[in-house]
Order: sequence, then C-alpha cells, then structure tokens
Amino acid sequence: VNGKIEIPVVVNVLYRTTAENISNAQIQSQIDVLNKDFNALNSDYNNVPALFSGVKANIGITFVLDQVIRKSTTKTSWGTNDAMKKTAQGGLAPTSPTTKLNMWSCNIGGGILGYAQFPGGASSTDGVVIDSRYFGLSGSANAPFNLGRTATHEVGHWMNLRHIWGDATCGSDLVADTPTHNTANYGVPAYPHYSTCSGTPVEMTMNYMDYVDDAAMYMFSNGQKSRISAIFTTGGARASFAQ
Ligand code: ARG
Ligand code: ZN
Ligand code: CA
Repeated sequence: VNGKIEIPVVVNVLYRTTAENISNAQIQSQIDVLNKDFNALNSDYNNVPALFSGVKANIGITFVLDQVIRKSTTKTSWGTNDAMKKTAQGGLAPTSPTTKLNMWSCNIGGGILGYAQFPGGASSTDGVVIDSRYFGLSGSANAPFNLGRTATHEVGHWMNLRHIWGDATCGSDLVADTPTHNTANYGVPAYPHYSTCSGTPVEMTMNYMDYVDDAAMYMFSNGQKSRISAIFTTGGARASFAQ
C-alpha cells in the first residue's frame, strides 16, 4: 500500500448475556491482532515456510479504535442477513461507514464465526461481523478460534480478498502468487500439503484466507497486497479510507 493508511474502527457490541458484552480490553486485543497481522508483526510470521518466503507480505495498514457502541438486546442470535446493522431490526446502524471500518460483535449463530461485506456494496451494511466468542483474545474468545484471526480473515474480505480456494474445487482467488487449492483446509494441516489441482502445488494453508484454525494461519501474499492496494487507490472502492 502506497502512503500511510490508518483505518478508524467503530466496534458495535450487541449483547444479551454478560459474556456477549465483551470488555474494552477484549476489543483492544482484537485491534492489536489486526495491527500485527496486517503489518507482518505477528510472532508466527517467521513460521512461513521457505517455499513462500519470497511472496509473504507486509500489507502496511494500521487500525485505530475510534469508538465502542454498546446495545443490550433480547435476541439470542442474529444470523447473517445484516439485521445487526439495522436499527429497525434491533441492531446498530454503522457510524461513518465511508471513512470508518464498522465491526459488529454479536451472537451470529449457526456455527458462523464471522462474515464480511466486500468493497462496492451499500454503505448502510458495510463492515464485518464477528461472533463475540471469536472476537479478540481471552475474555469470551473460544479455542481454536481465539487468536483474533476471524477478524483478520473477514477484514481481508472487506479489503477485496477471496478465499484462497476460490470457493470452488481448484478455483481461483484472482491472485497469481497463491497456489491453486483443492478446497478449504481446516484444523492444523501438516506441511507440505499437496494440491491435486493442475501442477500439484504445495498449498499455502497458512494463508489468512484459508479456513484453518487461528494458530495455523499467519500470512498474506504480495498478490493479495496488490488487490488490497488497488481498492484504496484513487478510483478504488475504498479510496475514501485512504487520506
Ligand atoms: N467462516 C468464516 C468466513 O468464511 C471465517 C473463518 C475464519 N477462520 C478462522 N480460523 N478464524 O468468513
Ligand atoms: Zn471467508
Ligand atoms: Ca491463486
């Protein structure tokens, strides 16, 4: 990313139980994880295998906690239809969504860890949603998704990154320097894990845009960085965040 990009983050907390009313410390721990993961400052960055050391990337984007907005609710789960973003449905509307990244922490339900809106969508629903059980470190965060990487993955989508397997068998993520993956990987894959797709490359299972456990994902690639840079450049869908 050319020039310094600093993204103010608004965290919208919707809670029914005390565990769902995550603490400011838990929220700040998530901001800290984003700052590490997007600046190659994560302690596991040096675990990237030599095979990928030439393409591992420092995205170079900073996140700053702008404000925390809390709302008590009687809803037990919110689903994935953006209800949490709508006042009329008991949620919280985003604050300044064209200049601030809005995050919602709530009980999503259905085993969903989080979901994101890609660039180019309505600003009224823009941002990322993270289930409160997978938001940040400690507190109510649940292993093996307790290292804050659900947000790293979702913010990756928010910055235009696709799943590394392209959401299809041997699909494309539109990034040249990431290998073609058969499908999503889960858990903690043993290295090397070979793809059966054309060329049988070693899969980059440690990429944040795979589906592995938090402890097993620790890199973005240069090609992913290029896609991210493009949307923050003049004319890009998130240029309003780069000033
Ligand atoms: N299933 C979610 C999604 O596709 C998030 C997966 C996050 N993975 C993780 N290890 N935290 O958006
Ligand atoms: Zn995803
Ligand atoms: Ca690729």
